[in-house]
Amino acid sequence: MADKENLEKRYKRIYDQLRELVLKTENKIARMATIAAILHHKMAQFFWTGFYILTDGELIIGPYQGPLACQVLEKEKGVCWAGVKSKKTIIVPDVHKFPGHVACDSRSNSEIVVPLVDKENQAWGVLDVDSRKLEAFSDMDKEWLEKIVKLI
Ligand code: SME
Repeated sequence: MADKENLEKRYKRIYDQLRELVLKTENKIARMATIAAILHHKMAQFFWTGFYILTDGELIIGPYQGPLACQVLEKEKGVCWAGVKSKKTIIVPDVHKFPGHVACDSRSNSEIVVPLVDKENQAWGVLDVDSRKLEAFSDMDKEWLEKIVKLI
């Protein structure tokens, strides 16, 4: 079976599982922690999986899985801030070519950042996933991760 079909099936299973799990509580931190844990452990290519939350004008670390990450991201710099400012998903095939990229771990080579947007269309954080592989993320990841963050 093609890799793309496998990925789609895996995302579909993860999404269905998460849809059930989020029913346990409306607490956003609990939902983010659950999403990070499931994604990180079911997606082999995810090296760091987690959230940054906009708090008093700063992006502060939220629930995550993977190696130790930066706790506060320097203002207006890097992929996460670009996601917050544009309110659009950003796929970075090679982080070394992204101006201002913040390397919390030098082993990351590609990245996807999905903004978290509230009902008033204000960005309040991001889901960030890093991979050790170059070009690890596609439009399929964008589509499903955007769907998944709506469960928060
Ligand atoms: N690379 C991100 C920083 C967060 S870490 O990848 C976990 C950025 O450039 O904003």
